[in-house]
Amino acid sequence: MSKKTIFFLLCLTILAGPLFGAELLYFTDPAFQDLGGKTQPSTLFSHDLHAVTYQVSCDTCHHVYANGKNVWKEGDPVQLCSDCHGGSKAELVNAYHMNCWGCHKRIKQAYAAADAPTSNCKKCHVPQDKLEKEKKNIQRKTENKNKKLMRVINKLKTKSFY
Ligand code: HEC
Ligand code: HEC
Ligand code: HEC
Ligand code: HEC
Repeated sequence: MSKKTIFFLLCLTILAGPLFGAELLYFTDPAFQDLGGKTQPSTLFSHDLHAVTYQVSCDTCHHVYANGKNVWKEGDPVQLCSDCHGGSKAELVNAYHMNCWGCHKRIKQAYAAADAPTSNCKKCHVPQDKLEKEKKNIQRKTENKNKKLMRVINKLKTKSFY
């Protein structure tokens, strides 16, 4: 390995370390407990698959608006979605589903073979007994980028969808 490669790898670890340390989130927004409780299993979400493999920019999902503009930048603190969309259970579910589903739907319209779940609830709301299997599946997808899908996403990007 050349010195340059080692330096590059070091930078990569430093950059990737703090950002994606807790890379596979199995999360549930705690606000649902006060809004009538939960009906679905927690959600499995991979930052790596989205932000690294398919280059979805952070501010597609994270935002803080000032004068109608998103002023959130990488490195800024991340609040829970419910801090701002937690008025009711319906409002909060909508915020999550509009964000996640909205993009997945657009991608599937452009490329039907995309494995971006919409109506298959269990692909996002992963039951405990399917967790290990689904983690492996996402890991495999993260490491094997689908080039055709990437081309479709790049086209959506030029239409300023992202
Ligand atoms: C596709 C949507 C999406 C993208 C893209 C995205 N995130 Fe997130 N991120 C989320 C969701 C959802 C959560 C969990 C929020 C919650 O708990 O309410 C989260 C949580 C976080 C957290 C707090 C939890 C943790 O893991 O420590 C940080 C920090 C974060 N994101 C940073 C980033 C950065 C930096 C990028 C870009 C490199 C990024 N995110 C890209 C959706 C996204
Ligand atoms: C700091 C407050 C804040 C946080 C945190 C926040 N949002 Fe938002 N969000 C807003 C505001 C304000 C708007 C309205 C922007 C507008 O319509 O001008 C918005 C808009 C949206 C929209 C578009 C709704 C529409 O009518 O077009 C979606 C979807 C959304 N947020 C989802 C999320 C998700 C998912 C998270 C967590 C990852 C999140 N938001 C975190 C404040 C926030
Ligand atoms: C801007 C686009 C975009 C947004 C927003 C987005 N995704 Fe995705 N998602 C993708 C792409 C691209 C893939 C990869 C599809 C493939 O591999 O065929 C994907 C794949 C997934 C998968 C993997 C499916 C499997 O194999 O199990 C899950 C789970 C997932 N997304 C959950 C979420 C969740 C939860 C959110 C909201 C917090 C979200 N996504 C928001 C673009 C997006
Ligand atoms: C693309 C990913 C995705 C898909 C597919 C999806 N959801 Fe969700 N859903 C989320 C996220 C993210 C949240 C908020 C995080 C959490 O608390 O789990 C959520 C929250 C919810 C909630 C509120 C919390 C609760 O447990 O009561 C309900 C209800 C819900 N989803 C129902 C569904 C149903 C029914 C389907 C299938 C028709 C579905 N979702 C498909 C991502 C998804």
